[in-house]
Amino acid sequence: RKSVGILATGSYVPEKVLTNYELEKMVDTSNEWIVSRTGIQERRIVSEEQASSDLGYEAAVRALKKAGVRAEQLDLIIVTTVTPDTSFPSTANILQHRLGAEKAASFDLAAACSGFLYGITTAAQFIETGLYRYVLVVGVDCLSKIVDWTDRNTCILFGDGAGATLLGCVEDGYGFKSFDLGSDGSGGDLLKVPAGGSRLPASIKTVSNRQHYIQMSGSDVFKFAVRVMESSAKSVMEKAGLTIEDIDYLVPHQANIRIIDSAVKRLGISHDKVAVNLNRYGNMSAASIPVALDELVENGKIKAGDHLLLVGFGGGLTWGASILRW
Ligand code: ACO
Repeated sequence: RKSVGILATGSYVPEKVLTNYELEKMVDTSNEWIVSRTGIQERRIVSEEQASSDLGYEAAVRALKKAGVRAEQLDLIIVTTVTPDTSFPSTANILQHRLGAEKAASFDLAAACSGFLYGITTAAQFIETGLYRYVLVVGVDCLSKIVDWTDRNTCILFGDGAGATLLGCVEDGYGFKSFDLGSDGSGGDLLKVPAGGSRLPASIKTVSNRQHYIQMSGSDVFKFAVRVMESSAKSVMEKAGLTIEDIDYLVPHQANIRIIDSAVKRLGISHDKVAVNLNRYGNMSAASIPVALDELVENGKIKAGDHLLLVGFGGGLTWGASILRW
């Protein structure tokens, strides 16, 4: 079996910044409430014309450029998103065409905010078995398009963005050491978009009932997140034969600083080893982890041989974690 790792990363966030002060004018909230309860100060929002494939394209081009790999060399493109451009063609199909990745297979994968962890775990199997050489995994979401901008419980939390990673073979001893994926469909109602699928197709009624927007039970998701961040992180450390002292960087899903702080405390890792960008971007769903990872790389924080622990959770309910040696 081959050793598989991340060959390059890239990310892209839209230019438009939406601050907490601007949100104060839209719903009954305050900068103070949002900062103290979530840690978020501002987020990026796409323009009306932009869709997920546009953000994913920019991130993908940056990752391929850094890797020195051409789009024509890609064997597979996986886009993890819950805000595809259209239900079909998939956003991965759209991206494949736009990149000119002529020989690549492509598909979308939906696991909400855990999407990127599901994506890299899936991609790594294709390379490990020798079926494919280069797989591009793009985590992208434009949750601003499905957020109810009159609901203060949700609209303050999310932002748009895209993170891309190119996976391929690495030297033995490096790359992915372990994975953990999980789901609990019994908690599906805690975080969902009720309409727009085959259960409740779009109709005048679903639109007037606001059923095409995200509905969330915040405190239940919070408790679930704190629990699985710890258990999934511990599971991958155990599988890799590592302890928290061996971890150089924790890259958690960026939903709420209080969720991250509680994972930091329960795992016993120091704050300077934790990637945090939710103050600037909010929760970018499937893009959160790959964007945070790309920022660590771009800022020269990661050295060859460092152990990274990636961990996330999301709607479904879903969760996942992975350890990789850089
Ligand atoms: N501004 C002011 N007050 C608010 C706001 C707001 N934006 N939002 C809620 N409140 C109020 C509530 O109405 C409530 O008032 P009440 O007591 O009079 O009813 C009060 O603040 C407290 O509400 P709680 O829900 O108890 O607040 P909590 O401390 O739990 O924070 C939050 C809410 C931030 C949503 C938190 O629960 C959270 O972050 N949960 C996790 C959410 C998450 O991670 N979701 C994404 C998952 S990933 C994915 O797949 C997309």
